[in-house]
Amino acid sequence: MLTLTDQDFQRLYNYIKKHYGIDLSKKKQLIVSRLSNSLSSQGYKDFSAYVDDILSGRDTEMVTAMLNKLTTNYTYFLREEAHFQYLWDVILPDLAKKHAKDKVLAIWSAGCSSGEEPYTISMYLKEYFGAQASQWDTRILATDISHKILNSAINASYNEESVSPLPATWKQKYFVKAGKDSYTVAPAIKQNVIFKTFNLMDSINFKRKFDLIFCRNVMIYFDQDTKDALVRRFYNATVPGGHLFIGHSEGLNKATCPYEYIQPAIYRRSAT
Ligand SMILES: C[S@@+](CC[C@H](N)C(=O)[O-])C[C@H]1O[C@@H](n2cnc3c(N)ncnc32)[C@H](O)[C@@H]1O
Repeated sequence: MLTLTDQDFQRLYNYIKKHYGIDLSKKKQLIVSRLSNSLSSQGYKDFSAYVDDILSGRDTEMVTAMLNKLTTNYTYFLREEAHFQYLWDVILPDLAKKHAKDKVLAIWSAGCSSGEEPYTISMYLKEYFGAQASQWDTRILATDISHKILNSAINASYNEESVSPLPATWKQKYFVKAGKDSYTVAPAIKQNVIFKTFNLMDSINFKRKFDLIFCRNVMIYFDQDTKDALVRRFYNATVPGGHLFIGHSEGLNKATCPYEYIQPAIYRRSAT
């Protein structure tokens, strides 16, 4: 393992927090264990020169490579199923009525990791709209800060264990068997997801406001001020009456949260 002095550690975590909202101030050991090998193979003898290079901002690829190693991309199909039940029981019937004329829904999976979340949403939409799905524009925007993880989402290849939380009929309908232990997401489900790189620290300027934003298990890395500011940006990017889903282990600050609390991990913007 390479040496990371307290001073370099502080410089590095301040930089990451300022630019990416990720709070690693208690993760010195994680930084050392996840980055040491790659630094050694790039010829660094300790962290000092590496931290200088990162902070210079000269090499954005170097910064994303570091973030890829430090953030946790853990996710799975049908994660926190209660959200999908609520989507099915409450949100989709409501949106189908509301958008009966324009037939356009706007859904954002923010911090989508390797794609399991937006593809699960895409499968629910396909199930819900059935034969009428082709008349609707239900494309889901799926964003993440990590290029590497987005490439694997676009690749859409999953093993038997990854697809195991899904009903057997969905595996048949919505995946193509690509090998003994490998499945690819079927074109109809894949085409309904648009992947983009996006840093949640940036201002949100997408063309449309969203009926529904999923930002689950992402803000766990952010400190309270960063979280509060992001929730305000989400709020401004949500249509009146639209929803925000967060992870069940996360909570929003009651005093500052502009959304109305509906049930655990589900929030709604007021209808007016
Ligand atoms: C644990 S995964 C969550 C995946 C999925 N939403 C779920 O709940 O299963 C967290 C994701 O957030 C992404 N992330 C972390 N900080 C981010 C930021 N500042 N902007 C955009 N994405 C970020 C990470 O790259 C990672 O893929």
